Amino acid sequence: MSHHIVEVKDLKFHYPDQTPALRGVSFQIRHGESVAIVGANGAGKSTLLLHLNGYLTPTDGQVRIGDYQLTPETVREVRRTVGMVFQDPDDQLFMSTVFDDVAFGPLNLGFTPEDVTARVEKALATVGVSHLKNRPPHRLSTGQKRRVAIASVLSMSPDILVMDEPSAGLDPRARTQLIELLKSFEHTKIIATHDLDMVVDLCERTIVMHDGLVSADGPTMEIFSDDKLLAASCLEKPLRMQGCPICRCKG
Ligand SMILES: Nc1ncnc2c1ncn2[C@@H]1O[C@H](COP(=O)(O)OP(=O)(O)O)[C@@H](O)[C@H]1O
Ligand SMILES: [Mg+2]
Repeated sequence: MSHHIVEVKDLKFHYPDQTPALRGVSFQIRHGESVAIVGANGAGKSTLLLHLNGYLTPTDGQVRIGDYQLTPETVREVRRTVGMVFQDPDDQLFMSTVFDDVAFGPLNLGFTPEDVTARVEKALATVGVSHLKNRPPHRLSTGQKRRVAIASVLSMSPDILVMDEPSAGLDPRARTQLIELLKSFEHTKIIATHDLDMVVDLCERTIVMHDGLVSADGPTMEIFSDDKLLAASCLEKPLRMQGCPICRCKG
């Protein structure tokens, strides 16, 4: 047994049109770590995340989650461990009420109706949207949808939360509230994002992707202090590390 909860080894993936989206990605993540995946558009972040619970099958290489090598036989077990929050909540929410969306996962896992209700209520309360439970998800704001999407994953009690661009499309207040919410979770977190200021708040470690490969992996503040690396990866320093916009002083 390994102490790493996620192990990705030389992962390669070509889309059916032969686009080489991942060209040999390797990393390991320990229990309780909070890790950002950053990189320019098209770097391969979303493709990588979609491998972590078996939505995509590697062209080559391996993914291991906890004790399970990810294979068609273990994918069900892996999906109990890895909760995936998609970039677009509309890809995640498809039932006619918020309650039913959050109940969908636990029902599929075979919990009793009482347990399902308890799980839904707890998940909705955790993300602060209990009052929306009878509303149709497609009528909610982006921030509300994002919270419901997170609840629909929390209701399955995953160990690992994988999130693709969780702050995209949120207004500043909803973004700050989301960051506070995510900070309060003790799960292992893997977050693909362009929001480098959010990364500073949430992730002690950052993996940089460039053109289907990992170009750096290390402590977030070290990565974000490396101007050459950021430029080569088409990234810009988080605003709070850019100093005063008028005089460029750091204070
Ligand atoms: N469904 C798809 N079919 C073909 N190519 C795709 C598809 N989705 C993504 N790609 C390509 O794979 C590469 C990686 O994309 P993606 O994982 O979405 O990057 P990111 O999330 O970092 O923006 C890009 O070249 C992109 O154009
Ligand atoms: Mg993406």
